[in-house]
Amino acid sequence: MAQEAMAMVGIDEFVEGLKRLPQMKSEAVNAYLKANPVKPETLKPYLFFSPANYTRNLIFKNELFELLALCWEVGQVSRIHNHRDQQCWMAVPIGKLKAQNFRVLDRDAKKCTCRLEPTSSFLITPASPAEVDQDEPVHQVLNLAEWNEPAASLHIYARPFNTCEVYSLENGTYGDVPLYCTSEYGKVCREEGANVRR
Ligand code: SIN
Repeated sequence: MAQEAMAMVGIDEFVEGLKRLPQMKSEAVNAYLKANPVKPETLKPYLFFSPANYTRNLIFKNELFELLALCWEVGQVSRIHNHRDQQCWMAVPIGKLKAQNFRVLDRDAKKCTCRLEPTSSFLITPASPAEVDQDEPVHQVLNLAEWNEPAASLHIYARPFNTCEVYSLENGTYGDVPLYCTSEYGKVCREEGANVRR
């Protein structure tokens, strides 16, 4: 028997459903993402693309979680990073992304040096949302140039945070960086906003 097409929801309905989840726990959020793919057209107010970098666009935030739309031009990638002990889920309503995980072989907190090795990787597509692996949280997100298409992803962070730890494979170093949003609630709020396209 052919499988029934999954009903899609608008972004407002998606946010309301997330707010109603009793807890932002792994299984509950994974099941919610799987059962509620978002209609791409409803994301339009939150999508801003920049030739300089992928952009981070805040859709909703409360004390338990924040929801961002990230916009990726062809070939744009995140830095290798972790979200410390915060949880992160990703869905990709437009295009697709690759997630590459890394194992930290060793680190020297005084010198801020470390050695990493790539481990598993997987695709995040409209049909396959994903969660950052809590046991191996260092990862990079990539919109590969060979796919030749922009992408837009939804990221749920619980709890909200505004710094993360980034790693340089080339230099063998790591450190804290602040995280910024290009837009909040549909309004551009960063200098780079001068360059963004919708
Ligand atoms: C980011 O939030 O800027 C990076 C994407 C991610 O791994 O969640």
